[in-house]
Amino acid sequence: MSDAIRIVEVGPRDGLQNEKQPVSTADKITLIDRLSATGLRSIEATSFVSPRWVPQLADAAEVYAGITRHAGVAYPVLVPNEQGYDRALAAGVQEVAVFTAASETFNRTNTNAGIDESLARFQPILQRAAHDGVRVRGYVSTVLGCPYQGEVPVSEVVRVAKALHTMGCYEISLGDTIGVGTPLKARAMLLAVAAEVPMQALAVHFHDTYGQAIANIASCVEAGVRVVDSAVSGAGGCPYAKGASGNVASEDVVYLMRGLGLETGVDLDELAAIGRWLAERLGRTTGSRTGKALAPA
Ligand code: HMG
Ligand code: MG
Repeated sequence: MSDAIRIVEVGPRDGLQNEKQPVSTADKITLIDRLSATGLRSIEATSFVSPRWVPQLADAAEVYAGITRHAGVAYPVLVPNEQGYDRALAAGVQEVAVFTAASETFNRTNTNAGIDESLARFQPILQRAAHDGVRVRGYVSTVLGCPYQGEVPVSEVVRVAKALHTMGCYEISLGDTIGVGTPLKARAMLLAVAAEVPMQALAVHFHDTYGQAIANIASCVEAGVRVVDSAVSGAGGCPYAKGASGNVASEDVVYLMRGLGLETGVDLDELAAIGRWLAERLGRTTGSRTGKALAPA
């Protein structure tokens, strides 16, 4: 098993999408440009979703046009449908992420479509992306619980993850959207999916509602996953997931991996400084424990 971890930094997208106060386009660009210099290899830049559904990211095209893309760094964006894919393609995007869920009610609330309907929406996107040379990542949300339905059967997580993989998504991110998971449950869910989709094609995505995210990640890494989604400063949440709190903080994940002897290639001090800067722009203190501990006296 590899001892390298790839962090997918989702702060500019998942971190900001639920932010109530306006964040300027210039600040979003600064955030991504600073993150690009830390050694991160994957930075989810924004979302080409309906601006009526997620007003905070209505400036997706301007943000994408304004950033300086570094060689060796991927800048995926979320797309919910072909209209989003068209907008992303026009912006020059080389990687997109499609998203659905393991819970029917959450998916309807989030995208106005049932799970199978959303998979059908993705089919033409995957076909066009293969032709356009665009990589496609897939998300399964609510893998450890749903804000509307409660328990989510693992069999449904496996079914949806497998469908995305079969369709051509190169990687499937398993999202604990509302942060209700605990380590043994998270690991069992991951291993059930890994029985049907290669572990190398899986990522984990935790929110930290009950303070379990780092423990969940440690448990899943021990089980073999090597790709972890996180957001600098622990920003974020989904506007259509009642009770969802911030993402696990990237700084805390980098610190954990260091301790486990797993290489992320990320400059922790710089990442922590960016996390504190972002928190200041958002008018709060950083949500990262590591970021606070590393703050200059
Ligand atoms: P809908 O209202 O059913 O869409 O929304 P529609 O196709 O009926 O179109 C309605 C209007 O939206 C039309 O405009 C379209 O042009 C426009 P009008 O003619 O009325 O002026 N529209 C768009 N405009 C720009 N870009 C587009 C687009 N699509 C339609 N792509 C839709 C359906 C899927 C569009 C909507 O529900 C949506 O955008 N949802 C996204 C919600 C979202 O972004 N949620 C957060 C991300 S998921 C998440 O956070 C979880 C994750 O982090 C993992 C985890 O934590 O588990 C990934
Ligand atoms: Mg999320």
